[in-house]
Amino acid sequence: MIVNSKQTNATIIFLLICLSINCQDKNHLIKPGQIWPDTEGKHINAHGGGIIYYNDTYYWFGEYRLPRLEKDKSHYGVSCYSSKDLLNWKNEGLALKVINDSASILKPGCVIERPKVIYNKKTGKFVMWFHHELKGQGYKAALTGVAVSDNITGPYKYIRSIRPNAGVWPLNFPEEYKNATVKENDLRNGSDEWKIAVREGLFVRRDFEAGQMARDMTLFIDKNGKAYHVHASEENMTLHFSELTDDYLDFTGKYIRVLPGESNEAPALFFSGGRYFMFTSGTTGWKPNAARLSVAKKIFGEWKSVGNPCRGTEDENKITFGSQSTQILTVNGKKNAFIYMGDRWTPDNLADSRHIWLPVEWEKGNPVIRWYPNWNLSKLK
Ligand code: GAL
Repeated sequence: MIVNSKQTNATIIFLLICLSINCQDKNHLIKPGQIWPDTEGKHINAHGGGIIYYNDTYYWFGEYRLPRLEKDKSHYGVSCYSSKDLLNWKNEGLALKVINDSASILKPGCVIERPKVIYNKKTGKFVMWFHHELKGQGYKAALTGVAVSDNITGPYKYIRSIRPNAGVWPLNFPEEYKNATVKENDLRNGSDEWKIAVREGLFVRRDFEAGQMARDMTLFIDKNGKAYHVHASEENMTLHFSELTDDYLDFTGKYIRVLPGESNEAPALFFSGGRYFMFTSGTTGWKPNAARLSVAKKIFGEWKSVGNPCRGTEDENKITFGSQSTQILTVNGKKNAFIYMGDRWTPDNLADSRHIWLPVEWEKGNPVIRWYPNWNLSKLK
């Protein structure tokens, strides 16, 4: 075949056009705070979320937030996206949907936040837990909901929502706290006496019969396969770490209080180099505040707060680069590589909230985060 130079030029131009279209379509960098287009070009609508790695694929579950103009609230639930490279995400639709039945507590209008999914090797099922609030009741109910599926992308079957650990004391709750008689109404909210009483279990006693409050939550699987439900409890003053049953669908009743009275939420845990690390935020609602890092040698051990893990300017550190933690992702196939995942909330248009992903770096054995306007995974060792 004789190929003339005109044909060659045309072929080269054609190839260049294809290449540039391909480049435009694909994400090559993580760009914290910017619109993150999925494979259809739409901003990823999975907030307060978490990622699990299964069958060579990452699955990202998060709050599907109704876009401002969306009237049909029954579209609300937990969204799921899949990706091979952590950059380009395909929308897999809603993994859990609100239930269009006014008798259901999962009906449209209820609140579903911070969903997390884990895989149970023994049962072969995927288990989703999420913070659940009842329609029209603000954040009063403080429930945790559970759903299950045979397929990772769903549909997840809703089981129930509960207040965990009704009728059981935390493992690290001294005898004298159990017997204390001071009540909420005896004290001025926020006073020094109130703070001491909260640390000494005021709300644990108050909620003993009905079950402990569960708001911001995450899940964590330990090396031995035991799973833990970690949530903000006691009016968001104290975190509870609760062991789940072997099928991950219920609580065993074994739980501990962590950092009592220190007002932590948005917990995100990971394990590295023989230690457990936890990022949390303070409690300022949708407004970002300074992140806190805590460390422990055992999951049910002594958790110690070691300060702010942000390494930016003073202003950036005060607001965690404008974000609130949701998960620390362990990157598969890399040694000791983790990604901080946070949300930059837009309260009046939550669907537009931005994803703040930053590489976890290390300083004197502890994880720290710095701002990068864009970065790729080669940053991770
Ligand atoms: C935050 C919490 C979010 C959401 C928000 C509502 O503190 O982390 O998940 O619940 O409050 O104000």
